[in-house]
Amino acid sequence: MENKKITFPEGFLWGAAISAHQTEGNNINSNWWAWEHSERRASELRSQGRNPAEYVSGQACDFYHRYESDFDLLTKLNMNAFRLSIEWARLEPQQGWFDRDEVEHYRRVLEALKKRGIKTFVTLHHFTLPQWFAERGGFTRKANIPLFLNYVRLAAEEFSPLVDFWVTINEPEIYGSHSYILGRFPPQRKSHWLTFVAVNTLIACHNQAYPILKKYNNVPVGLAYHLVDLVPTSIYSRFTRDVMHYITNRYVLRRTIRRCDYIGVNYYGHSHVGVWGRKIRHKTHHMLTDLDWAIHPDGLERVLLDLRKYHKPLYITENGLADAGDIKRERFIHDHLLYTHRAIEQGADVRGYLHWSLMDNFEWAHGFSPRFGLVAVDYPTQARTIRPSALSYAEICKTNTLTV
Ligand code: FCB
Repeated sequence: MENKKITFPEGFLWGAAISAHQTEGNNINSNWWAWEHSERRASELRSQGRNPAEYVSGQACDFYHRYESDFDLLTKLNMNAFRLSIEWARLEPQQGWFDRDEVEHYRRVLEALKKRGIKTFVTLHHFTLPQWFAERGGFTRKANIPLFLNYVRLAAEEFSPLVDFWVTINEPEIYGSHSYILGRFPPQRKSHWLTFVAVNTLIACHNQAYPILKKYNNVPVGLAYHLVDLVPTSIYSRFTRDVMHYITNRYVLRRTIRRCDYIGVNYYGHSHVGVWGRKIRHKTHHMLTDLDWAIHPDGLERVLLDLRKYHKPLYITENGLADAGDIKRERFIHDHLLYTHRAIEQGADVRGYLHWSLMDNFEWAHGFSPRFGLVAVDYPTQARTIRPSALSYAEICKTNTLTV
């Protein structure tokens, strides 16, 4: 049978995403750095039979110094968009003092993208905090909101002309649950109340950042939501599914959507929901990533269709997999794009796809072992090697078409 080509809308953005702490290296004034080096974290890892040295971000991908050559990779791979974060802990290492050298650093980074004609998605908060802000209670104290807004104001003033899309906050749902309930992110608290407060503070931060960002430059402002495709296991679990859908996919969205010019979709997969809550049955009937996450491209179509009712442009701000052998990535990208295209045909206004990630990087509490990169990184030498799947993605980026 002859291959068919399907074309994406004109002007579709094709690219990849990273975050600062995961790639730059030496983010020494952040709460993550403090946590990675804490005795509490080290003894937790030792008790799990792990080597704590493998769970510190260290120099990561040394992206802080290598951004020019890493951006050459974007060009080589035909990408026209890139998502990255700026690091509040670098820009304001002490409360009330903005480091001008770091402001200039990020200006150079963003200019380097502009020089290559690449559209920029700039995230303001991607999981990490300045340590001083964390010590003041971080986002669990509403009184701290103005401190975040000072940083937003600086970013807006300094970088607006170089930004094409602001992403205020990455995945408030994940930040809240991982930091305050599941114990996977610092400060590893286990309190439903603190989770609730942190998520609501982030919602307020987004809503109050919006007019500040719009004042300096009328570029689209949005948020990157973590959206999960939840599937009921039977008709009896539909109600539970709907409740969980509201908590995981709607609570933050509904409270921020009026102050979003677009919706950022971070999609990694799906979960089954039984009558009493989430049931992970995927081990038996799904393809899995190296982190055992179920690969479910059709779920992306459902997630995108479900967002049509908000009548906002949609950008896939993250989608990817841990696949050290690069065995599943090409198919993964192909299938997720196929379902994205199906959603577009049914009226979802999807305008871009940013693969997570450009290169292997520090995967938070999992350390360096998961390999999410289109480009492999050999950490001791910092050598970059383009994986075969990246070349097939590059062809899609170049032609704006997918062969099916
Ligand atoms: C997302 C995070 C991103 C990365 C991917 C794998 O939830 O936003 O930083 O860790 O997961």
